[in-house]
Amino acid sequence: MDQLTSDVIVLEDGQALPSDITLPPRTPKWQDTLNYIANPDRFCRVNRAQYGSIFQTGVFGGTTVFVGSSRAIQMVFNGDSNYTEIGLPSTTMTMFGEYSLFQRPDLHRQRKSALSPAFTGQMLEGYLPHIQRVIGQQLPTWDIVAPLRLVPTVERVCFDVLAPLLLGIQLDDPAAFVGLPVSSKMALKQLYKTFFDGFYGLLKWQSPLTAFGRGLRARARLIDFMQAVVKRRRAVQVPLEPTTDFLSMMLASQQSEPESVFSDALIENQCLLQLWASHYEMMGLVSSWIYQLGHYPALLQRLRAEQATVLGEGSDPGTASLAQLKQMVFLEATIKETLRILPPSSTATRRLLKSVVLDGVLYKKDWGLVAEPRLAHASADSFAQPERFDPERFLSERGEGRLYEFIPFGGGVHACLGAQLAMLMMKVFAVHLLQQFDWKLLGEATFVQFPLKRIRDHYQIQLVRRLPTA
Ligand code: HEM
Repeated sequence: MDQLTSDVIVLEDGQALPSDITLPPRTPKWQDTLNYIANPDRFCRVNRAQYGSIFQTGVFGGTTVFVGSSRAIQMVFNGDSNYTEIGLPSTTMTMFGEYSLFQRPDLHRQRKSALSPAFTGQMLEGYLPHIQRVIGQQLPTWDIVAPLRLVPTVERVCFDVLAPLLLGIQLDDPAAFVGLPVSSKMALKQLYKTFFDGFYGLLKWQSPLTAFGRGLRARARLIDFMQAVVKRRRAVQVPLEPTTDFLSMMLASQQSEPESVFSDALIENQCLLQLWASHYEMMGLVSSWIYQLGHYPALLQRLRAEQATVLGEGSDPGTASLAQLKQMVFLEATIKETLRILPPSSTATRRLLKSVVLDGVLYKKDWGLVAEPRLAHASADSFAQPERFDPERFLSERGEGRLYEFIPFGGGVHACLGAQLAMLMMKVFAVHLLQQFDWKLLGEATFVQFPLKRIRDHYQIQLVRRLPTA
């Protein structure tokens, strides 16, 4: 048992409270949800300055405690399957449906360990040629004459990488859609966007007038689509090759072990849910990395030097292997620093099933808990000069970004399943960009803050094509 686990006192109903305990500071306010959704950065910054890294809020109704200290974050992550449950709004939970990893805690471990192989080692090796091909083909088409709208441009590439990998479909061959209930890539993208927006509908009213209602209808149509894709895949790919994509991995597992977790319904739902979990997060990360690095041309030179050392001077980045990408430790440090300063999402949103006490602070049964990277990543105890963009902090010599202090991918039993895929895709993007372009920022960006943090669509950069090295 680690130190923290033994320090958390879990109180059974009716058990007397230990003496000398306090409550987290601050009184929850009715307008907290609106203020948080309007600008989570500001909400966290202002309250952190006044109350420290743990405080009560009224975000999402009731009392929700925001935590940013590593001990309290560990307490939140360790609570899953013990004294907490997922505490997302009921619109979001309904949109997830019963096959999500956020539903059915009793099946979570079994489902997650069955899905995990799709996002590690051998499978990532199998995905790499596709990721390389799409990014390698699309970046040379980026506009170098006129300013480039950063986010929509990045978003297109992310969709073209992730949709084939996760849904198991060809996107750019119109023939691939013949006989399917969605007729084109554009129609699929539109439907998927409506599905995504449904998760954040504030009104749980099933009507075409609400985001939630439209989201549920989009989900039903996407499930029809996936059923048709699965049927076709079974007919044309014999035997199923598990490393082709996520869908093939699940179908092959089902075939070899019919009693496994992979029912048809789970497979169809998981394809959609993984795309939900990854597409906009990746769009946020890649565009924020380009933006952050745009401030520091000297860092671009250092990254190119690292690339030349690992791949060889003038080598085609399209040949970079998984092992070579892993060796690019400074590149990885710049990605982590981007995730620290601009984390795309807040993490664990949980509800307490029992009261707990940690370090003399009482967290009451039925309260919500949010482990907030906006608080954790701004801590001067964990990060020297946290306001500075300083990738070196993540190199082994400095060793900042320890467990429970750096949490862009969450932690505990619900830690992000796709963190390695996210890092891989970001690195492939980066090596191609670094080889082909320099870029100039056209002013400071403004951000959409909710549900995911990302640069606004209209923000532009200017690309300059680099001359090939002799
Ligand atoms: C920049 C990219 C990404 C970020 C910042 C990110 C962030 C996160 C965070 C913070 C969580 C924890 C949520 C919680 O505990 O409440 C999470 C969970 C999850 N992520 Fe990611 N994610 C990213 C990419 C991906 C990708 C590429 C995939 C898969 C294709 C993925 C699949 C998942 C899944 C399935 C979970 C739920 C795991 C569980 O409940 O056990 N994510 N992610």
